[in-house]
Parts: sequence; structure tokens; C-alpha cells
Amino acid sequence: MRKFEIPEHYKSSIISAIKRKREALDPKRKDYSPTVLDFGKAVFFIARHFGFCFGVQNAVEIAYDTLERNKGKRIFLLSEMIHNPAVNEDLASRGLRFVFTSEGEQLIPWEEISSEDIVIIPAFGVSLEVEEILKKKGLDTRTYNTTCPFVERVWKKSAELGNKDFTVIIHGKRKHEETIATFSHARKHSPSVIVRDLNEAKLLGKIILNELPTSEFFELFRDKYSENFDPKKDLEKVGVVNQTTMLASETQEISEYFKEVMTLKYGEKNIHKHFADTRDTLCYATNDNQKATIELSKTDADLALVIGGYNSSNTTHLAELLAESFPVYFISDAEQIISLDKIRHFDFRNKREIYTENFLPKKEKVKIAFTSGASCPDSEFEKVLVKMLNLLNVGNIDAKAVTEKIKNDN
Ligand code: F3S
Repeated sequence: MRKFEIPEHYKSSIISAIKRKREALDPKRKDYSPTVLDFGKAVFFIARHFGFCFGVQNAVEIAYDTLERNKGKRIFLLSEMIHNPAVNEDLASRGLRFVFTSEGEQLIPWEEISSEDIVIIPAFGVSLEVEEILKKKGLDTRTYNTTCPFVERVWKKSAELGNKDFTVIIHGKRKHEETIATFSHARKHSPSVIVRDLNEAKLLGKIILNELPTSEFFELFRDKYSENFDPKKDLEKVGVVNQTTMLASETQEISEYFKEVMTLKYGEKNIHKHFADTRDTLCYATNDNQKATIELSKTDADLALVIGGYNSSNTTHLAELLAESFPVYFISDAEQIISLDKIRHFDFRNKREIYTENFLPKKEKVKIAFTSGASCPDSEFEKVLVKMLNLLNVGNIDAKAVTEKIKNDN
């Protein structure tokens, strides 16, 4: 895979040593078991895959390179570069300004932006409507476009479905930048509708099977369907794509559910005319990180620390996967670990930050699982590891020591 130039302050010699060592032991990337670092009084389980993915590295490289090469110019980012507060704050501190918040609120009116400026398109991509505005302003939408190729692959898949007259069902979060962009691209080619989860998919299934009146479609899927959507006609042939960072198992369930619905309605022998049996459109990083997290959840860890931006979809799914096995503390950075007794963390189910006291069990040998999302810099991961080591008073680590440990323990 291509190597990117990312700023030194996002790198970590310790994490690089762990990743290098695992790559050397498992060059085909088939082993999803975690790295075990045994410090005597504490054991750290570190997910096999985590941290900056291809698309994030690409976006970070382009953003910093653009800053470097365009001193004196006004540089805007359409919205958060990636869902990581530290990265966005660092870019903002270097003069980058955000046009939209990640909730879609416009911070800088279009009139303030001219063809003299630079507008960077984030890794999530951009809707066709916003891209058109940028083009009309004479802005360069190619050089400063950091859209991840795996997101573009979803757009291509949607277009293929549309060209075969299938309606595109997008498994994604309506307000997530990537799903906004994918919805915009999909509806250019075909009727499109967004479902958030299996429950929403089942509502759509009931409409397909006439178990709910079609008129309810417009209420249940308000803001989530393309213009002139006709639920009677447009739900006769469907295919599923997804936001690249959704939970793999959920997309699978949704896809299988629609296959069953269409089989019930049209019969087994006609299924291929009514259901496009596509594979999910998750990206490699989501797949790798989720598989590695499932392996992490099989350890006998006492708790897990998951590091990433609270609005990061892929990180939230990692936290959800681990929460089935042990207590999970979703933290944005090392500062959230206040002491051995107290942690500030994101309650991802209720979407709020909370404090938990006595989060570490009082026992001889505490076992902690660690992972991070695709938008979390390795340097942040390292800070969390080092902080836990210092608090637990179980020694120091450096790149060499870590490599030795992996050789001995894995
Ligand atoms: Fe791209 Fe997947 Fe990362 S879509 S930005 S490689 S999480």
C-alpha cells in the first residue's frame, strides 16, 4: 500500500514498532489476534488493526501539503477533515477554516469564498450540489479533493445499480457527511432511500410487502428518499450499498433481510430480477478494524479503552463491538484518564460525556484491551498507553522494548 507523508506529530515510534513487528510476523494480514504486551502487573491487549487508514492518511497528507505550498492564501475545509478533534484543531490552528460544521450548519457563507481561495474536500466526499457551487465559483475541485477512493467505490456501485434500474438502499446515517455525499451521487442515477439500521429496514420491508400502507413511507422516511420517489414502483427492484464505516454484521443482516423480503414477494426464481445481490461496500479498514476488534473482544480483558473522536462512526462501532464483552471507555485522548480511579469518557449509547469512578478493577494483574478508530493518530494512541503504564507504575516502554515483548509473547 502507498506510503503517505504525514506530519511527525501524528506518528509514534512505539506504535510503528508494534505495527511493523506484526506485519513482519503476518505479512498476509490474516492473523487478527491482538498483540499481547505483558508487563507483569498489567497486560495490554492491542488490536491487530487500528489507527489512520488509507483514506485518512491521504486526506491528512493533502491538507498539510496544501497548507505548506499555499502560504498567504485563504484555505477552507468544507467540513471536518476527518472525525478527530485533535487533527481538526491542529489544522484550524494553522489557519484552515471550516465552511460547515459536521452537523451541516454553514459557518462561512458562500459569498465570502472566491476563486482566489482554496477549498479542500474532506475524505467523506462531497454532494454533487456543493461540488457544483464550488465549480461555479471557479474553485479547483480536483487538486484539493481528498475524497477517499473507497467512498468513490460506493458511488460507482450505486451508479451500477441505477444503470440496471435498481433502487439504491443506502445503509448509513442520514446526517453523516459521507452518507449525504453518497445519497447525492446515488440519486443522480436512481431512486434512493437511506435506512439507519435493521429496524428501519424492516419498516421499509413492511411497505414492500404491503403490511404498511405506502403512504406511510413518506412519513417514516422523511428527508431520506430522493425526489419523486414512488414507493409502489421504486421498491420493486432494490440493491443495498452502505456508508463505508457501518457495522459489517448489520449491513449483512439488512442485505439478507431485503433478499428475504423480495423472495417472499416475487418468489425464489425471480429474485435476481428484484434484488441485486451485491457485497457490502464497507472499506478494507472498517473490515480489518472490526475483525481485529472482534478478536480483541475474545480476550479475558477486564475493560477496554477505545480512542477516537466522539462523532466518529467507525470508532463508535468498535466500542459497540467490545461492549458486548467487557466495560468500554471511549475516550478522545489521554487527558480523559484523570487518575487510576477516575475517567471521563463518552457514553456512546446516550451520546454524552460522563465520568466513571473506580473504572479499573482492584486486582493483582489488570488486563486492558486497546484500540482506536481509523481517524485517530498513532501519537494519541501512544499517549494513552504510556499514561496507563505510568499510572499503573509497571514500567516504561520504547520501540525496542515493545519489539522484544512481541517476539516473546506472541
Ligand atoms: Fe476511506 Fe475507509 Fe478510511 S472509506 S477514509 S479507508 S475508514
